Amino acid sequence: MSKPINDRKVAIIGCGFVGSSSAFALMQGGLFSEIVLVDVDRNRAEGEALDISHGMPFAHPCKIYAGDYNDIDDAAIIVITAGANQKPGETRLDLVQKNVAIFKTIIPQISERNYQGIILVVSNPVDILTYVTLKLSGMPATRVLGSGTVLDSARFKYILGEHLSVDPRNVHARIVGEHGDSEVAVWSTANISGIPIHDFCELRGHYDHEAAMKRIAEDVKNSAYEIIEKKHATYYGIAMTVKRICEAIARDEKTIIPVSNYQNGEYGLDDVVLSMPAIVGRGGVEYKVPAPFNAQELAQLHESAKTMKEVIETLDL
Ligand SMILES: NC(=O)c1ccc[n+]([C@@H]2O[C@H](COP(=O)([O-])OP(=O)(O)OC[C@H]3O[C@@H](n4cnc5c(N)ncnc54)[C@H](O)[C@@H]3O)[C@@H](O)[C@H]2O)c1
Repeated sequence: MSKPINDRKVAIIGCGFVGSSSAFALMQGGLFSEIVLVDVDRNRAEGEALDISHGMPFAHPCKIYAGDYNDIDDAAIIVITAGANQKPGETRLDLVQKNVAIFKTIIPQISERNYQGIILVVSNPVDILTYVTLKLSGMPATRVLGSGTVLDSARFKYILGEHLSVDPRNVHARIVGEHGDSEVAVWSTANISGIPIHDFCELRGHYDHEAAMKRIAEDVKNSAYEIIEKKHATYYGIAMTVKRICEAIARDEKTIIPVSNYQNGEYGLDDVVLSMPAIVGRGGVEYKVPAPFNAQELAQLHESAKTMKEVIETLDL
């Protein structure tokens, strides 16, 4: 028997930098009336719950507390941020063995409770761990998603906004594929409020498109490395990303965002999880949007999928 889902409740497993910042962002957002924090380090979860609760009189009423797996199976969304983070010089893929081992202790505890809500994977490598979650849980692919390149797309919009001196919310551009080194910047459809990107660049006095595209895509890809080099972890950008994805689900927004989701033949990509645009709402990944790509982007996407598959083949699932 599974508990009925409480639409106003979210659970976060892993309360380190990313989990606690996400809880803080969610508390301020007022989306949920109950936030439960789970961590192997119970003291850490209790401390974060107290600290975040003390800001509540300035935000929205919400019950925030440390709990265990019996407290989370009625949450509308379970966000998983447990696991090792990148150290300077490490790639996301370097984390795979450590974090798959951690997921093997977490996911069975969720699936044995016949969980009926949505799992949002954030731990890295996020595309691989979303795949692992899907396989270990046996849940439908619509209800298991990863934060994927929603964060990279936000970085892309921010950097383009700076380059063009325009509100990043007017930038319509996305990163797809792996949340990692093989990610793909989709330039072919990028636009600023409907104006094709190159035309807008010229309106703002930028003419060297090739050099700018290369530099900006590299800056987006290397953002996390730069932040980790300087402050040892990234957490505010991803916390806002978690909040955005939770909003899309909890408010049934039907928002199109590039969450990490299972590809079952789309674009010739099969049995792999990658970030591709999807309509996200209460049902999770409700519809995979057939976004157009040019030949070069498609080839890059296939390379990204190949990288993911090679890693998946090393796993004992
Ligand atoms: N997807 C993204 O865009 C993105 C962005 C930033 C970080 N991350 C990833 O998020 C993860 C967490 O990063 P962080 O900086 O918060 O790390 P952190 O070390 O600060 O926190 C990890 C937490 O996980 C807990 N934990 C470990 N094993 C656990 C288990 N079995 N059950 C419950 N909790 C457990 C630890 O006690 C710790 O509190 C990393 O994998 C990191 O790479 C992802």
